[in-house]
Amino acid sequence: MRIVVLVSGTGSNLQAVIDAVTSGELDVEIAAVGADREGTYGVERSSEAGLETFVVNFNSFPTRDEWDAALTDRVASYAPDVVVSSGFMRIVSADFIEAFNGKYLNTHPALLPAFPGAHGVRDAMAYGVKVTGCTVHWADAGVDTGPIIAQEAVAIEPGETEETLHERIKVVERRLLVSTLAALAAAQKPA
Ligand code: GRF
Repeated sequence: MRIVVLVSGTGSNLQAVIDAVTSGELDVEIAAVGADREGTYGVERSSEAGLETFVVNFNSFPTRDEWDAALTDRVASYAPDVVVSSGFMRIVSADFIEAFNGKYLNTHPALLPAFPGAHGVRDAMAYGVKVTGCTVHWADAGVDTGPIIAQEAVAIEPGETEETLHERIKVVERRLLVSTLAALAAAQKPA
């Protein structure tokens, strides 16, 4: 199974995927890692691992549609079976989703459909829920919408901050992303 991983930030989920591939736990080929902006730690991690790395910089395009089309072309050039949004903080178009046959996987640090959007951890804390968690799902063109593949709950501890909670969620999120990719890869292998 060939994957392209998209990142916007620190890329700790990406690192978990790279580590799992390196150790042999995860039988996928990382065809490329891409970012929507320059200078992300995610891209640095990718280059350090010797992976094909690219940037389709959102700010270099006059319109969102042009950026989206350029991203679609670039990702399609690697012929991935699955595209992984691993902390990729941009909404993509329905055309992008369709170009990859609906195989656009996203991870989100909350129990969807609760608390979608860029601040899933903060919003869950602000609401006062006692349990939140993370979700791995097939993404459609909405904000953190689409069929759910896997979820795991994380209890909110007394005295927790957004940062401590997000870090604890991300530990679970990395494991869930790797196990989901492993299951998809196993399902795709010819018997
Ligand atoms: C993850 O919690 C992801 O779900 C969210 O942003 C975080 C990305 O972390 N959208 P990283 O870049 O993989 O470290």
